[in-house]
Amino acid sequence: MSKESYAVTIAGGGSTYTPGVVLMLLNDSEKFPVSRIVLYDNDAERQATIAKACAIYIQETHPEVSFSYTTDPAVAFTGIDFVLAQIRVGKYAMRDKDEKIPLKYGVLGQETCGPGGIAYGLRSIGGVIEILDYMEKYSPNAWMLNYSNPAAIVAEATRRLRPNSKIINICDMPIALMDIMATMCGLHDYRDLDYGYYGLNHFGWWWKIKDLQGNDLMPQIKEHMAKNGYADATAGLEFVDASWNATFQKAKDVYAVDPSTIPNTYLKYYLYPDYVVAHSDPKHTRTDEVREGREKRVFGTAREIIARGTAKGFGLKPDEHSEYIVDLARALAENTKERFMLIVPNHGAIENFDPTATVEIPCIVGSDGYEKLCQGTIPQFQKGMMEQQVSVEKLAVSAWIDHSYQELWQALTLSKTVPSAAVAKQILDELRVANKDFWPELH
Ligand code: NAD
Ligand code: G6P
Ligand code: MN
Repeated sequence: MSKESYAVTIAGGGSTYTPGVVLMLLNDSEKFPVSRIVLYDNDAERQATIAKACAIYIQETHPEVSFSYTTDPAVAFTGIDFVLAQIRVGKYAMRDKDEKIPLKYGVLGQETCGPGGIAYGLRSIGGVIEILDYMEKYSPNAWMLNYSNPAAIVAEATRRLRPNSKIINICDMPIALMDIMATMCGLHDYRDLDYGYYGLNHFGWWWKIKDLQGNDLMPQIKEHMAKNGYADATAGLEFVDASWNATFQKAKDVYAVDPSTIPNTYLKYYLYPDYVVAHSDPKHTRTDEVREGREKRVFGTAREIIARGTAKGFGLKPDEHSEYIVDLARALAENTKERFMLIVPNHGAIENFDPTATVEIPCIVGSDGYEKLCQGTIPQFQKGMMEQQVSVEKLAVSAWIDHSYQELWQALTLSKTVPSAAVAKQILDELRVANKDFWPELH
């Protein structure tokens, strides 16, 4: 689709990530020229705060870029090349319930893992598919880059419901962790690494990490993991909140379970759920931390910019962490054939694993989309864990499609984070009431 410049719609325009992504798009214009940015959201008021501040910034720094915001899908999705999807169906009010309801029953509460992740999945599927359909209706040649969570469930749903759509599901966690590993080895960032990885989203392992000259970096990284997990190598990362530091430290114990691979941080929720529950405050979870931190900061700054009528003097910086989104769009548009970790249908890329599973693996991206890099066969331990978790994700999607209470109960029951079918049922029944405005009606 190589063009002189591109039109991009950000769906979830009112997201806390929007200003950072907009600034990144503008900042990277040499790499990936953008002539039009549209924000789309179904919450006009939330989006307007972010959008008005962005408009002031763009007027002052990049007046040549056309910028608008809307809640009208026809306006948002007509004549565009890329949709960046970052929606949170139910917003933080519902994330709060995802996290706090399971904790009442002694089960961990997390945005993408366990019962909370399943509940969020049943809200997200419809929202993401709606945006994909708008894009296909108004701009049939466009690509959607989705990082709305829970990406594992959303990707499995789009694999089943929209198998031919131009959607790529991606997560930034492997990138952030590879940046940390690069730091451990005195390298700049993840682009300096050659790697092998297999898993599901928020559920995977590196089996190979080399530098670009072919030197094995695993011994160095393993030594660091055994001592500190991912902690003490995170300088420059956005994850500075206390809970993320705790997660980086806990990765030491996650690593200990299989010291032949390097784990994704999210495995702590499946391997140490009792520890996570013991260290949770049922009255103050990650949502509270995000609302008191990131949301307050981002919206506070936006309101201040609007009040002053200028974005000068705020020291605004692009979110460098989100540069992978620009790189991915450019790879599709300009056929760069760069490597990205994507969430894609397996189809043999992991040989001894369900071909219909949605897995996270390295891929090469060009103008025809992605080509998967085979990861060979995986060990028994990882295979066992992945088979259980992929079944949770598949059952959750089936429950949404079939409106099935039974399948959803099975999904929760099968989650490694839930001790029994009885507890699963109690949590499900309370989540079902809390989600009545968002879930399909279950029978
Ligand atoms: P947020 O609540 O600040 O923003 C989400 C926005 O989406 C809100 O403004 C909301 O009104 C809007 N929205 C909800 N449903 C919508 C719909 N159906 N159509 C249009 N807009 C809708 O959330 P946030 O913390 O900024 O996160 C945004 C999303 O990005 C979340 O899904 C989060 O999990 C995800 N995320 C993913 C990754 C990744 O690695 N995959 C990384 C960061 C964030
Ligand atoms: C990581 C994950 C995302 C998640 C994000 C932030 O980047 O990969 O999927 O959304 O963390 O979570 P937070 O708790 O800060 O909203
Ligand atoms: Mn993620």
